[in-house]
Amino acid sequence: MKKNSKLKVSIIMGSQSDYKVMKLAEKTLKKIGVSFETKIISAHRTPQRMYKYAAKVEQNNIGVIIAGAGGSAHLPGMISALTHLPVLGVPVESKKLKGLDSLLSIAQMPKGIPVGTLAIGEDGAINAALLAAAIIANNNSNVRKKLKNFRTSQTKSVKKSPK
Ligand code: RP5
Repeated sequence: MKKNSKLKVSIIMGSQSDYKVMKLAEKTLKKIGVSFETKIISAHRTPQRMYKYAAKVEQNNIGVIIAGAGGSAHLPGMISALTHLPVLGVPVESKKLKGLDSLLSIAQMPKGIPVGTLAIGEDGAINAALLAAAIIANNNSNVRKKLKNFRTSQTKSVKKSPK
């Protein structure tokens, strides 16, 4: 890993079908001014791609990994097992079980290999990006300022009355 101020976020997902949710992580990082890369990596369908990615990711100026997966969602846990970077898991909604399977699979990691697990679906993707930005902000004053501004304008946007 090189200079802290240049750290990026790596967004990975198990399938093209996850992108409709995970693109919200991209959109949120753009808003906060955090650089990122996006890749499709499946723990089940492309295991060699996953191993190759994990072997290089720490040399690529990546500070945080956001991993989205649905169903039997092993990607976030496997990536956490293979790297020392913080991994934030986004459970993607699955067709049969509405993402409860993804949530439990990502959240119930055994001790020793952590995955910070967010909410199912779009809220999770957005919050994963905000949390990743908060981690990057520890060593990046520009990102810290933008995150604070985001919170301030969010607060201002909440009306006092529904009418
Ligand atoms: C998981 O299987 C992916 O993360 C995706 O959420 C799920 C279904 O994938 P597709 O069959 O839509 O490609 O690995």
